[in-house]
Amino acid sequence: MNYFITGGTTGIGFELVKLYLSQGHRVAICGRDLSKLPKGFHEQHKKALWVYQLDVSDREALVKAVTDFTEKAEGLNVMIANAGRSVGSKSNIPDFQSAKEILETNVLGVLYSFEAAMQHFVSKKSGQLVAIASVAGFVGLPGAGAYSASKAAVVRLCESWSIDLKPLNISVSCICPGFIDTPMTQQNTHSMPFLMSGEKGAKLIGKAIESKRALYLFPLRMNLLITFLSLLPRFVYRWLMGLQTFNYSKQS
Ligand SMILES: NC(=O)c1ccc[n+]([C@@H]2O[C@H](COP(=O)([O-])OP(=O)(O)OC[C@H]3O[C@@H](n4cnc5c(N)ncnc54)[C@H](OP(=O)(O)O)[C@@H]3O)[C@@H](O)[C@H]2O)c1
Repeated sequence: MNYFITGGTTGIGFELVKLYLSQGHRVAICGRDLSKLPKGFHEQHKKALWVYQLDVSDREALVKAVTDFTEKAEGLNVMIANAGRSVGSKSNIPDFQSAKEILETNVLGVLYSFEAAMQHFVSKKSGQLVAIASVAGFVGLPGAGAYSASKAAVVRLCESWSIDLKPLNISVSCICPGFIDTPMTQQNTHSMPFLMSGEKGAKLIGKAIESKRALYLFPLRMNLLITFLSLLPRFVYRWLMGLQTFNYSKQS
């Protein structure tokens, strides 16, 4: 099988790369800074690993890379739109520049990744689109408005497109992890309930992709917590979260 994984140089993406290479698959990855890949890794897997330096918000670059990989590896089976970013808030006032960058990467990046893959899936009437969204897509998390909004957009895109693309035999999977130990979460100073290792997270994601799960929220305890929070009357949710929200303006 041939997998294209955006943002496969670190974290969840890189764990998926290791998983698929160990199973004998061909994998392509992309990222803005390829030096994040461990030294010698590309050389070691040169026959099965393609690496592209690009920003997922650059539609043309992404289309070019996906086409190049599809030609050289003779096909594309699964597109995993994993590249994403999150910026911790240090103020009660939204950081609009960071919000724009988050939406560009987390929403447009997924859109462009899916579009690039679809060019190869439609004629074959087969393929799988996968997005790594987040449990944050089900509630508006304090201090993470743009991130929550970006993941909510991805959850809804996947839900709609899984229905639209079914007659074309193209499946859509939306993966919503809780906290996974990666360079992204290693910057967090807040508590991270049910934190899981990247390796374990990738194994669970790999299984969900293999079984073509349309929606996968994990781990189970985080699934239950987020489902509970998302079902609360919204005024109760806002009150509950407000009790815990740090008032940044009191810092100075
Ligand atoms: N870790 C968690 O707890 C968690 C939970 C839920 C959802 N997620 C989601 O899972 C995905 C992976 O997160 P992670 O924790 O593995 O993060 P990570 O360790 O920071 O890895 C992010 C990857 O995406 C790449 N990337 C970021 N912006 C990019 C861009 N504009 N263009 C191309 N590549 C880009 C990064 O490389 P460069 O920076 O070099 O480009 C890196 O390879 C994200 O979508 C994240 O929102 C993570």
